[in-house]
Amino acid sequence: MVFQPQRKILISRGEIAKAVDRLASEIKRDYQGKQPLLIGILKGSFVFMADLIRQLDLPLELDFVRLSSYGAARESSGKVRIIQGLNTPIKDRDVLVVEDIVDTGITTSFLLDYLRKRKPASLKLCALTDKPSRHKVPVSIDYLGFTVPDEFIVGYGIDCDEKFRYLPDIYTLED
Ligand code: PRP
Repeated sequence: MVFQPQRKILISRGEIAKAVDRLASEIKRDYQGKQPLLIGILKGSFVFMADLIRQLDLPLELDFVRLSSYGAARESSGKVRIIQGLNTPIKDRDVLVVEDIVDTGITTSFLLDYLRKRKPASLKLCALTDKPSRHKVPVSIDYLGFTVPDEFIVGYGIDCDEKFRYLPDIYTLED
């Protein structure tokens, strides 16, 4: 039998959709007249990114980087690995990083430093969820969907050992 951990709904698909609408309005307002480059951090951000861009109505471009710090563990290793780097030059571009979750902050902080060195015109961060109680490094989030408690969450792109990314709602996972 396949092991299925208990899960409890934390954020419903309806609440996610409302947050995506709100974030899209804020981003649209701030990037009027610009052609932002949205950079998603794979794999977790792919569902959020797909919903967000379809609400933006801006002449944006997209790229993805694939970073990993968790492996199969529930705790960040603290060391970020670049599995797939950036393909688009970002010098003088208005760059918006799109992330599914800021936990320790190590992944986003690593990517923002990496991008800042490449001299974009502007650099901002949009995160669907944030666990401020877990931050190990300071991260400033320009566009935030939800503050979440210090519990392991899955769904809407977010995994536990590669499972549960397909769930349309966000759940907390219990052992
Ligand atoms: C997850 C998540 C974030 C990061 C946040 O990625 O998607 O990118 O962890 O954690 P942090 O703030 O503690 O650095 P993960 O490394 O699990 O890879 P994934 O996106 O492929 O799931």
